[in-house]
Amino acid sequence: MLRFPLFAKIYCTKRCNLRCEHCYLEDYTGDMSSEDIKALIDYFKLKGVNWIGILGGEPFIRDDIYDIMSHITSRALFMTVSTNGTLEGAYDFAALAELKPQLQVSIDGSTPQINDRLRGVGAFRRTLAFIDGLNTHDIPFSIGYTVSRANQDQIRDMAVLASELRARSLRLEIFIPIAEGKAMTRDLSVTAAELAKLEGAIAELMNEFPFIVSPFVNTSQCGAGIHTIVVNIDRTLSACDLLAEKERTLPFGDITEIADLWLNDPVFARYRGLNGHRCRLFEILI
Ligand SMILES: C[S@@+](CC[C@H](N)C(=O)[O-])C[C@H]1O[C@@H](n2cnc3c(N)ncnc32)[C@H](O)[C@@H]1O
Ligand code: SF4
Repeated sequence: MLRFPLFAKIYCTKRCNLRCEHCYLEDYTGDMSSEDIKALIDYFKLKGVNWIGILGGEPFIRDDIYDIMSHITSRALFMTVSTNGTLEGAYDFAALAELKPQLQVSIDGSTPQINDRLRGVGAFRRTLAFIDGLNTHDIPFSIGYTVSRANQDQIRDMAVLASELRARSLRLEIFIPIAEGKAMTRDLSVTAAELAKLEGAIAELMNEFPFIVSPFVNTSQCGAGIHTIVVNIDRTLSACDLLAEKERTLPFGDITEIADLWLNDPVFARYRGLNGHRCRLFEILI
């Protein structure tokens, strides 16, 4: 067992300009302070973390997002930043080209109709304009695609779109109905039979499109509690970010407590010794 994780995901904000139908966030208020984020980054560097993931909410809604990214770069850490790509005016392509985050841009359908039903009217157009800017500035990116009942027939079309848009990879996740307050979430869930079919189709499509990445097909890629830790904006920790709204440690006081929580808190312990395990989220899904 690792004495400390290698990959730390930080939820920097719960604010977002969108209200996607499938979103697991329960509310859209609150930020982690810039000082707290930087202190976490420094602590993680000290403890041997080599990769920081910045998540939200929408990270680019923060005025200080480039400052946070610079801080990560200055500590010689790799970083991933997830974005919906729709915040026109918030993207500084020159800064992105210099800071070189691994960007993950969400698209949930290969047409405006399918994507915007989930992500809101105009989202597809704005995200593609963002991607156009990335390509113009030679900034690499991946596409994140959350597969649900509303877009499960899109896998091939999404692979073609991602290829046409010159994405480095197409990262698939399965929609998990974990936002209890949202009535529509059950409607978006795939059934057990659909899921089995999807897994087969994804595995086959991976031969044709090797840039497809899916932890749901190959669960050994999942690092929850093994090498990955999630810090929520309320100073709690989680192992799996899809479960970040639900399964958390108690709030930590000083950041140095994180090492002990990682080693001893049941939130992490339950993920260990399960090599090749089926993702725990399936228990919720089916
Ligand atoms: C929470 S968002 C944060 C970053 C940014 N706002 C975005 O949409 O990319 C990160 C990823 O989680 C996915 N996601 C949101 N709710 C989900 C759910 N209930 N099940 C699975 N994935 C979900 C989103 O589609 C997105 O790809
Ligand atoms: S999935 Fe991302 S863009 Fe959509 S509402 Fe949630 S945080 Fe915002």
